Amino acid sequence: MEKKEALYEGKAKIVYSTDDEDLIIQYFKDDATAFNALKKGTIIGKGVVNNEVSSKLFELLKENGIPTHFVKILSEREMLCLSLEIIPIEVVMRNVVAGSLSKRTGLAEGYVLKRPVLEYYLKDDDLGDPLINCSHIEVLELVEKDTLDKVSGYAQKINGILKTYFDKRDLTLVDFKLEFGLHKGVVYLGDEISPDTCRLWDKETGAKMDKDRFRRDLGNVEEAYKEVLKRVCG
Ligand code: TMP
Ligand code: ASP
Repeated sequence: MEKKEALYEGKAKIVYSTDDEDLIIQYFKDDATAFNALKKGTIIGKGVVNNEVSSKLFELLKENGIPTHFVKILSEREMLCLSLEIIPIEVVMRNVVAGSLSKRTGLAEGYVLKRPVLEYYLKDDDLGDPLINCSHIEVLELVEKDTLDKVSGYAQKINGILKTYFDKRDLTLVDFKLEFGLHKGVVYLGDEISPDTCRLWDKETGAKMDKDRFRRDLGNVEEAYKEVLKRVCG
């Protein structure tokens, strides 16, 4: 597999083309941003943790029948993936109130939801990724109805699989963000699943073990990422 030119550089990853047009390489950086890149920093070793944690979780999901873009891990910071046409919707699943749901509803952070909540955000940095609903998705023609049904079905199934997996590792899966894409007309889970894109709280102490430590200046950011790696992959 030959790595070719950078196709796209995002806030946390660089995507490279390869000599196979069906495959791309995701390179995980240590760069961290929050609040639509108003806050910038570095979390040393984050790229390695996110690559390894994502690879492990994609394998777990694949074993459980979820189609993912993950092909194989190539190096500490690189993963080989199917090339996807990304659907411009960020799918958030929530089990416990935190972050923007707390702000939007006034419910206290930590309130356990009686059912998982599924939300859609428009993937558009210039607009600050606003919350949208099914009606917006339909009118804006962001994706076909049957594809959206598949995406929401997968998101709910993924939540069940990951919640159980993290729970066995003494972590509460509070919420997380997913991105999906199409390859030859088939829907696949894309992007990453990592402490950047999930809220994970220690089951015993409630300590935050994810990017909120960076967003909210809580300290011990690198330590939290390493601990998640240990619990997920160790
Ligand atoms: P929120 O409470 O800020 O809306 O975040 C919900 C979940 O989505 C949380 O697990 C963090 C994740 N997330 C991302 O992965 N990328 C983002 O840009 C944002 C805002 C949240
Ligand atoms: N993706 C967000 C940003 O734009 C970061 C976050 O809150 O996760 O900076």
